[in-house]
Amino acid sequence: MLLSIHNLTVEIAGKEVLHEVNLSIDHGETHVLFGKNGSGKTTLLMAIMGFSGCRVTQGKILFKDTDITYLPISERARMGIGMSFQRPPTIRGVKVHDLIKTFNNNDDATIEQIVNSLNFTEFMERDINLGFSGGEIKKSELLQLIVQNPELILLDEPESGVDLENIKVIGKVIKKLLQKNLRRQRVKAGLVITHTGLILNYLEADKGHLMLNGMIICEGNPREMFETIQNSGYEECIRCQR
Ligand SMILES: Nc1ncnc2c1ncn2[C@@H]1O[C@H](COP(=O)(O)OP(=O)(O)OP(=O)(O)O)[C@@H](O)[C@H]1O
Ligand SMILES: [Mg+2]
Repeated sequence: MLLSIHNLTVEIAGKEVLHEVNLSIDHGETHVLFGKNGSGKTTLLMAIMGFSGCRVTQGKILFKDTDITYLPISERARMGIGMSFQRPPTIRGVKVHDLIKTFNNNDDATIEQIVNSLNFTEFMERDINLGFSGGEIKKSELLQLIVQNPELILLDEPESGVDLENIKVIGKVIKKLLQKNLRRQRVKAGLVITHTGLILNYLEADKGHLMLNGMIICEGNPREMFETIQNSGYEECIRCQR
């Protein structure tokens, strides 16, 4: 397994938000995380990434067989975990271009190609996320993530607030990022949160997980799970579990 989470219980500001979560992602797999607002999806991604506000009170997180439960974010990023945020901060005084330049994983031509594929050239000289629209923020996040070249990609609602044309743009980029190679093996693994399900059209997702009240209550085929949620709502998932 690339990532394995065992019995993870997490508190934020003294409130238990995740309860005994178990979830494993193998090399090259893409998993999808569903769940109602406030169920703990973002918190799970933040706990994997290692944000200090997430206090682990029980359980552990293994990445590439190393226990990372108490490692700082920087170490986890260096090991190959990257995240695009649902609501990233604005960073005044730092242009997108300046930040992208600090990652030396890519040559100029590769960066230009990624920027072009996202139609993002005109935003490169602007301060990070300052005054960006919802869709522009999602592109900015995706660009920053790609240039980090992580092995495990955590995407928190990459298509939310994005118009239908730009979903195609973002979807194609994500598809390329997480696609299988010619041997049908993918190099990168992903954990993707979605409410709309639109991003599923661009992913060959291997497994879905449904989170409710900080617990994973169901796992299965992501498309079937999405259809059930769309047609019958989360209530059906709760009934089905009982
Ligand atoms: N700093 C905090 N203080 C108090 N409660 C918090 C804090 N951060 C998160 N929570 C609570 O933790 C719960 C889970 O939040 P989280 O953002 O993980 O949900 P989510 O599943 O991502 O929801 P959404 O679909 O709306 O993005 C929510 O009830 C939220 O209010
Ligand atoms: Mg969230």
